[in-house]
Amino acid sequence: TILVLDFGSQTSHLILRRLRSLKVYAEMLPCTTKLADLPFKPKGIVLSGGPSSVYEDGAPHVDPAVFDLGVPILGICYGCQELAWRINPENVARGVVREYGHADVIVHHGADDHVNRLFAGIGESMHAYMSHFDKLVKLPEGFVTVASTKNSEYAGIAHQTKPIYGVQFHPELEHTPRGTEILRNFAIDICGAQANWVMKDFIQKEIVRIRHLVGETAQVIGAVSGGVDSTVAAKLMKEAIGDRFHAILVNNGVMRLNECEQVKETLEEHLGINLTVVDGAELFLGRLKGVKEPEKKRKIIGATFIDLFQQEALRIEKEAENTPNAGPVEWFLQGTLYPDVIESVSYKGPSATIKTHHNVGGLPDTLKLKLIEPLREMFKDEVRKFGEELGIHRDLVMRHPFPGPGIAIRILGEVTPERVAIARAADHIFISEIKASGVYDEMSQAYVAISQDRAVGVQGDARVYGYIAILRAVKTLDFMSAEPFEFDFGLLKRISTRIVNEVDGVARVTYDITSKPPGTIEME
Ligand code: XMP
Repeated sequence: TILVLDFGSQTSHLILRRLRSLKVYAEMLPCTTKLADLPFKPKGIVLSGGPSSVYEDGAPHVDPAVFDLGVPILGICYGCQELAWRINPENVARGVVREYGHADVIVHHGADDHVNRLFAGIGESMHAYMSHFDKLVKLPEGFVTVASTKNSEYAGIAHQTKPIYGVQFHPELEHTPRGTEILRNFAIDICGAQANWVMKDFIQKEIVRIRHLVGETAQVIGAVSGGVDSTVAAKLMKEAIGDRFHAILVNNGVMRLNECEQVKETLEEHLGINLTVVDGAELFLGRLKGVKEPEKKRKIIGATFIDLFQQEALRIEKEAENTPNAGPVEWFLQGTLYPDVIESVSYKGPSATIKTHHNVGGLPDTLKLKLIEPLREMFKDEVRKFGEELGIHRDLVMRHPFPGPGIAIRILGEVTPERVAIARAADHIFISEIKASGVYDEMSQAYVAISQDRAVGVQGDARVYGYIAILRAVKTLDFMSAEPFEFDFGLLKRISTRIVNEVDGVARVTYDITSKPPGTIEME
């Protein structure tokens, strides 16, 4: 295992991801982790970037024991400054200019093989992504310079004898095209980590861990939505503890066409999971009546979901109490992924911007259940691979994400049963056409929204006055930023014709080409 100590950079998790893409197993912990508390001995340690200045009061620092462990260390950006500052605080200072974006890195290959190891195979120069104001202003004692840029004389440093290295740029970013080679040099060649991490091992390890955690009799409940995360988490639970896992699907009345039935079929029939469907459509739509404000809609849906979920959980608990040999319901399953953990307030690291995760399914306090999150170390693409290995159908595994508040946040303004039906029908045509033309997997998310106001059109010889269907399709890696999908124009026209012809109540079709930022992926 390579240990990544996180100083709160927005890209720290990408270090983990790059290492795992090299089949090297890595774990990330907050920079303040005490080495004495580690349950494993790492083969190497990466110190990540971060938003602080090493020389400021209150800046985060690593446990000094890191340097006595004798394993190789790689400092990235803030991590590199941390290495230099430890040796002498005068080594780090604010630069004259900030350095953001691309930089040409000149690689200095020395006579000594040891110091050349980090940049082995890279050649004389490379492009890198920089994002810093502070920098090394002196070469730390005992180190040599192995790379530099116009603005950073010490953009890469290596200790003369110890396996300690630092880079000012970010090798984990795609904008540093040869960054993965540098991480590979560090993890495999310098640390001697093995490139043998495979999903199957992870699944087996996780099943054993769940069994151990839950014990022989306790029961687990969890909400499922039909999305890949909750389905994979549910299937894993089923593999680990069988029928002691109970999945609950709450129909909130704003799911897509036939979605509830499809989820039921997949979970019960194909995956053999114990599933209860709670039909809350009327309750949800009733509570949403007359409500136009987006945040209010989200809050109503979130609260109603919790009400129904809680009722159902209590029912299962009661049932367990009255069933001989059945243990108590003690655990609540959540399909939280790694990026959710980083973004959520539950993460107490030093990240500059902490965003509350907007998943609807939180843990109702009154249930007094313990949280179990088997996917909390995984990224979306890993969960997809994981799902395939667990035998979940590819269609489900590759499904675009769908928000908890459903199409309610795609119906601008008031959510009425009539408008839900219109949005559903239009969305169904859009997605079917995208799938039929083979571009579904090329985009990250697609849906149809419905305007609040109406527009005039002419159909046959008659004047129509209907809503505007707004098509949205985006490409993104992390859902934090996104670009509109570049459709074939013929396909867009075909979709437009079908929607106007087949969906009563739609007069016009438009395509939203706003990037995120400044837009968001959802409409509300
Ligand atoms: P935005 O609109 O913030 O969306 O650009 C980014 C991603 O998050 C999804 N999303 C949600 N998912 N509950 C969810 O479970 C929500 O309240 C919610 N709001 C947005 C959105 O579909 C996109 O994938």
